Amino acid sequence: MPEQVQDRPEWAALVEHQQQMSRQGLRQLFAEDPDRASALTLQHDGVLVDLSKNLVTTRTIELLVALAEAAGVLGRRDAMFAGEHINTTEDRAVLHVALRAARGTTITVDGADVVEPVHEVLDRMRAFSDRVRSGDWTGHTGRRIRNVVNIGIGGSDLGPAMAYEALRAFSDRELHVAFVSNVDGADLDEALRGLDPAETLFIVCSKTFATVETLTNARGARDWLQAAFGDDSATAKHFVAVSTNAEKVREFGIDADNMFGFWDWVGGRYSFDSAVGLSLMVAIGPDRFGDLLAGFRSVDEHFRDAPLAENVPALMGLIELWYRSFWGAQSQAVLPYSQYLARFPAYLQQLEMESNGKRVDREGRPVGTDTGQVVWGEPGTNGQHAFYQLIHQGTSMIPCDFLGFLEPVDEPPTTGVDLLQHHALLMANLFAQTEALAFGKTESEVREGGVAADLAPHRTFPGDRPTTTILAKALTPYVLGQLVALYEHKVFTMGAVWGINSFDQWGVELGKVLATRISTELGTDGELDHDSATNAMIQRFRSGSLD
Ligand code: F6P
Repeated sequence: MPEQVQDRPEWAALVEHQQQMSRQGLRQLFAEDPDRASALTLQHDGVLVDLSKNLVTTRTIELLVALAEAAGVLGRRDAMFAGEHINTTEDRAVLHVALRAARGTTITVDGADVVEPVHEVLDRMRAFSDRVRSGDWTGHTGRRIRNVVNIGIGGSDLGPAMAYEALRAFSDRELHVAFVSNVDGADLDEALRGLDPAETLFIVCSKTFATVETLTNARGARDWLQAAFGDDSATAKHFVAVSTNAEKVREFGIDADNMFGFWDWVGGRYSFDSAVGLSLMVAIGPDRFGDLLAGFRSVDEHFRDAPLAENVPALMGLIELWYRSFWGAQSQAVLPYSQYLARFPAYLQQLEMESNGKRVDREGRPVGTDTGQVVWGEPGTNGQHAFYQLIHQGTSMIPCDFLGFLEPVDEPPTTGVDLLQHHALLMANLFAQTEALAFGKTESEVREGGVAADLAPHRTFPGDRPTTTILAKALTPYVLGQLVALYEHKVFTMGAVWGINSFDQWGVELGKVLATRISTELGTDGELDHDSATNAMIQRFRSGSLD
């Protein structure tokens, strides 16, 4: 059995180094090294990542890189790109990188090239999107499609929903695009209100086509259409499916011609650049979808080829791991200074928490260190007026990623809003927050400002709250692809160091099984044999009374 990472000498070296680092603050580190900002700022293809406001030195980076090397991160990375079955508990390759590989390149899984099939599906998606966008694809009554509703959950929702929000300025503003995920009927009901069935297209998105929430919502949508048209003859023109499971798609009543496939080597949370992104492609058009894929590819190639010490996503992952495993951080905040990226933290929650929320290593042994942590966040500046208090003055360290852009999205406003003026204010806040978090304000500085002694502790900012700042020129499809790929490979790197399988998600199963059983029980008055608390809740639901 391979040695566990916390038993390696490289780990012990970092434990010792952390003790030294905990005695130095960012004020001292910046004062001692005038080149610190540039030495700890990385750039790749128009994306800048400033690591300098982290509790690290170049020595920390060296030690983290040594740990990653000892843990075999490079071998894992190469195995992923080579199509090996690195998702061992499901015996699958992990090849989201093949989804954005250039046409003509070759990546093989079990002896067969997967890049050409990826492009065949992209071609079909392109043709379909063009037809919907041009009005050539019409509904059952011959009317143009004006509403597109994606029905999916988890990876079959969060990715396209996040990216649609992010790239709204690049979308066809005449098309109404909505995302329905929750089995709470309110989600579907609210989404359908006011829509004309004759102009509405549903994209049912599910890797397995077995997810209860998605199938329940898809049936609800089908019933809504049938109620409008009197029979199910409209299904063919108003439903398409995205799935790996052709048989179940057919069973649902969707024609194979209207199905867009993908493959078991694409994990749900790594899938929105596959056919799962169909709703996004319809919204922004195939060319911009192509730009998105090119952005992903740029970072994939960098992750695949760059040495660890210069590898941007790998270093981002190692720094997050530094706080999680060596400083005891419990959560990581992601704070985009862009309203368009409002759903980015929610997207990253699934990416990171479903991937690295694991308590045993690849060999099934309990891991000897903390692994995945809570990822959360909201766009700035909103969060500043809500939860930043705790980040500045709370008792826990919360490392933060700040994301920002030099320019606002280049779409002429139709309202007269002065986007440039707003943008300068937005970015001033981003820069101010990272400065305040890093350097704080000492009690004596507070006192010097005239604050009374009894108030001074309340108005003191301890500083040394670590942040990483990620900047790009503007939010475009290409840049969004880069950002997502940076986080995908960051998550990969952390999982590889910890020695866990970042690509399964067995932790979602138990609740699903119990929910299936309980949903049957809710409709009967049969005997219950759960624990007493669960039994009591089921009884209350059955009786409709809290007594
Ligand atoms: O329950 C978790 C999960 O399996 C996710 O990993 C996945 O993204 C989501 O459900 C949806 O699955 P599907 O695309 O098969 O409907």
